[in-house]
Amino acid sequence: MKIAWWVVWVGLLLVVKIEGGRVRHYKFDVEYMIKKPDCLEHVVMGINGKFPGPTIRAQVGDTLHIALTNKLSTEGTVIHWHGIRQVGTPWADGTAAISQCAINPGETFHYRFKVDKAGTYFYHGHYGMQRAAGLYGSLIVDLPKGQKEPFHYDDEFNLLLSDLWHTSSHEQEVGLSSNPFRWIGEPQSVLINGRGQFNCSLAAKFINTNLPQCKLKGGEECAPQILHVDPNHTYRIRISSTTSLASLNFAISNHKLTVVEADGNYVEPFTVDDIDIYSGESYSVLLTTDQDPTKNYWLSVGVRARKPPIPQQVLTALTLLNYKNISASVFPASPPPVTPQWDDFERSKAFTKKIIANKMMTPQPPRYSHRRIVLLNTQNKIQGFIKWAINNVSLSLPTTPYLGSMKFKLNNTFDRTPPPENFPSDYDIFNPPVNANATTGNGVYVFRLKEVVDVILQNANQLTGKGSEIHPWHLHGHDFWVLGYGEGKFKAGEDEKRFNLTHAPLRNTAVIFPYGWTALRFKADNPGVWAFHCHIEPHLHMGMGVIFAEALHKVRNIPSQALACGLTAINARH
Ligand code: C2O
Ligand code: CU
Repeated sequence: MKIAWWVVWVGLLLVVKIEGGRVRHYKFDVEYMIKKPDCLEHVVMGINGKFPGPTIRAQVGDTLHIALTNKLSTEGTVIHWHGIRQVGTPWADGTAAISQCAINPGETFHYRFKVDKAGTYFYHGHYGMQRAAGLYGSLIVDLPKGQKEPFHYDDEFNLLLSDLWHTSSHEQEVGLSSNPFRWIGEPQSVLINGRGQFNCSLAAKFINTNLPQCKLKGGEECAPQILHVDPNHTYRIRISSTTSLASLNFAISNHKLTVVEADGNYVEPFTVDDIDIYSGESYSVLLTTDQDPTKNYWLSVGVRARKPPIPQQVLTALTLLNYKNISASVFPASPPPVTPQWDDFERSKAFTKKIIANKMMTPQPPRYSHRRIVLLNTQNKIQGFIKWAINNVSLSLPTTPYLGSMKFKLNNTFDRTPPPENFPSDYDIFNPPVNANATTGNGVYVFRLKEVVDVILQNANQLTGKGSEIHPWHLHGHDFWVLGYGEGKFKAGEDEKRFNLTHAPLRNTAVIFPYGWTALRFKADNPGVWAFHCHIEPHLHMGMGVIFAEALHKVRNIPSQALACGLTAINARH
């Protein structure tokens, strides 16, 4: 029998269509809105009238097409898809001054990119401090139909964690760039899916509080979303943190949590009572509802790693795990889980070190690297202004976005001298800097295609007095292997022998602990220009980041709209 040529063609087209995934269209209008996220009125940034923005849900292989319209009247905007590697679409990474021009008020920008790995991700503003203003939402990528996760669960929940201030992000921005410097302080509320209860989380023993905003009623804008569960089921809880500042700890009374995913990568499952989660990280945990089903239980998210402004009063967000057979209005019999001591860093390290790769599901790191970059994190002064600097350079973004200016080889768009790859060997990381003065810069670390790069993040003492804080570093465009954490100053010969090359977890965010170092390895296999920065919003604003560039000659099809500013504007017209 002879099959008509067109039958073959249609058949082929269908296969291509199925294998290529589908295109999912979204229309996002970004605007300021008045909401009551923690029961008090605030101006927040939202999308399509929602805060947080709508959850995007897609399957591996899908292409997302998001038409983003800037409905703010006086400022630009962009959105970054945190954890999505943007292979082949570096212009869609959504970083102002890096991958694109900020979208002007009234204009629409079309993000088109492929989601190529299942996992729990999120998106957020990446211009000025718009993430702090509330511009964020969840992005979840499922396995293709027919493929199964390497663990079982009956149902799932998605919790996006954030922190909220009663001052506006504009006020924060001005304070941070003023002399005298004004720190933003600790958040007023922690939010779970955009909901918190100002002041009553402090009264977490809340049994005795009569504040109207603390009543766990349904319906109101700030009422906590309760997790309704059936007994003897297993739930996957997706948790991601887009906090501006806060490091968080997540726990549910009486229930164990089994960690199975970190930043969209499978980890070797391990079971704990609570998890630490830093800004920029995401996890999936499995929870089995094997406790007394005639009771409800607290779910608590408390702040760690920074001293609480009022001692003993840990800022906490609460909601309930409700066994469906009883009413959600029944208060738990016992108090909420206690957030671990804020400065018990040994405990934090012990948790972080439990995260290792699931060997069957995670590619191994290359055995050797071609290049090592050591990045010293310090607080500095530049002409009297307080900044963060990396190897003594504080990042200040250029007016022409890097991607276009590097692609078209424009001159005078950023510093041509690459930033230092190390710091003076006699630098004392345990004391305030002897000479606090740093410089501003916007040079680029340029990598060859497929170069294997080790990055050693080195923590140090703060500007004055004694102390060193946690910084969660996030890399755009890649996952990296975390090869290890260490105390004090990184010692090349000795410390690299202890690198974990067999179970190194793949992640897109990793922390440096006080006075310690963290070693990462990644392959520069994604042509584009990528930010690598501390995910604490005010720190990034104060210059805590660097820029990586890879194989610009391979970058194609930058939409002209991404180029319509600075010195690339001329290319945009062609
Ligand atoms: Cu989620 Cu550049 O950040
Ligand atoms: Cu930081």
